Amino acid sequence: MANSEYEYVKREFEFDRRLPASNWIVVRIDGCHFHRFSKIHAFEKPNDENALRLMNACATSMLEKFPDIVFAYGVSDEYSFVFREETEFYQRRESKILSICVSYFTSVYGMKWKDFFPNKDLREPPYFDGRVVCYPNMKTIHDYLAWRQVDCHINNHYNTCFWMLVKSGKTEKEAQQTLKGTFSEDKNELLSQQFQVNYEDEPAMFRKGSSVYRDKVETKVKTDDYGNPIKRIRLAITVSNLDIIGPEFWGKHQYILQEGKYRYEYVKKFDDIRRLPCCNWIVVRISACQFDKFSLIHSFDKPNDETALSLMNASASLMMEQFPDIIFGYGFSNEYSFVFQENTELYQRNERLILSSCSSWFTSFYMMKWKEYFPSKELVQPPKFEAEVLCYPKPKIVCDYLSWRQAECHNRNQYNTCFWMLVKSGEDENKANEILKVFFHHLNIFPILLINSLVICCP
Ligand code: GTP
Ligand code: MG
Repeated sequence: MANSEYEYVKREFEFDRRLPASNWIVVRIDGCHFHRFSKIHAFEKPNDENALRLMNACATSMLEKFPDIVFAYGVSDEYSFVFREETEFYQRRESKILSICVSYFTSVYGMKWKDFFPNKDLREPPYFDGRVVCYPNMKTIHDYLAWRQVDCHINNHYNTCFWMLVKSGKTEKEAQQTLKGTFSEDKNELLSQQFQVNYEDEPAMFRKGSSVYRDKVETKVKTDDYGNPIKRIRLAITVSNLDIIGPEFWGKHQYILQEGKYRYEYVKKFDDIRRLPCCNWIVVRISACQFDKFSLIHSFDKPNDETALSLMNASASLMMEQFPDIIFGYGFSNEYSFVFQENTELYQRNERLILSSCSSWFTSFYMMKWKEYFPSKELVQPPKFEAEVLCYPKPKIVCDYLSWRQAECHNRNQYNTCFWMLVKSGEDENKANEILKVFFHHLNIFPILLINSLVICCP
């Protein structure tokens, strides 16, 4: 079917970020306002076993539905889902992956609610937010999961003590006060001394959180001719509450977080080309690096060297000849901003190509023109310019950008004019800075008064 004239709104504006290859993708889902949700549904404090089992059931459904999820870890109202490293789930498109995970988890939560709370109506729709994070190697993905389990331990240890104190008659404030500044051993002692509870005897699901993964289990597939069971190792989705911080679990389950076996072409996937959105004004700002040193070496006049500024202007003019799409240039001191016309197709709006070629051309022009502007000065140090690309959707913002740069020119020039007048009148540079710090702290009128008095003092 032919594309309509409106189709460009998709082609030009919809940028679906693709997550980098050779990374474990983690989607972490978290219940929104579950503090309130748990209150409304009278969850047990601090842990409601049914609520946690419901979360685990949702996570199990996720692994059933999406085979590329190799591991899930959950605690309280959150669950992390780890996709296999080389997954091509939705071509690794971030918004698809995130929205589908959150949406599917939410709908299973609603559907399974009655299985876990047969006597409680769902009084408010539960909903979850989520984020996507990429972990580039085995160490970082292990550390991510360890971080979540340590967090589970710290929170649960605290909450167990807190609610035991409250249930024993303390107010929430008193319980908080009792626990303030306590270490792990203090909490264990409090539990055993006051409540005869050994923390290690608390349910593992509360202490360790829950892991969901495909475990190798021996299952009977059929019986032989003599009636003996024939068993095979199969992968079955399992929920466990084991330690995933130490090496033991991962040593036994090395197949879960295996690194992908890529062919060499996959390196192309890392070439992430960013195209600047259309109908936006592109501004490239170029500025000379370490210009203080450069101007000192080449004995530029202070605070302004007219010839050096003319050289910048000449280079900018050549830029405008080289790139007809530049509609405006504005420069001062060691920088120049170039505004490209709204719909420029320069390098198909590829950000890196625009940035690199502009800074390279500008540098070349500056070098080329040097002898013309400084016939008796040798270029003793190669100049270098850095560039930034900015993208503004409205002409008003471009105007504001240019006004901002001109205000900056004014401020800097006013300061430098005062500074060099003071120095030329005999002040030492540190002293001059100190004097100006005081002046520029006050109203704008002072520098003008200062300039006036300096003009009078030093002819
Ligand atoms: P946002 O995530 O920022 O929207 O806030 P939140 O209210 O969900 O808080 P957060 O995710 O930081 O913490 C989860 C909250 O859910 C806890 O503070 C508890 O109030 C509640 N919660 C989670 N699991 C249980 C449970 O098993 N029992 C009870 N009583 N509350 C729970
Ligand atoms: Mg939450």
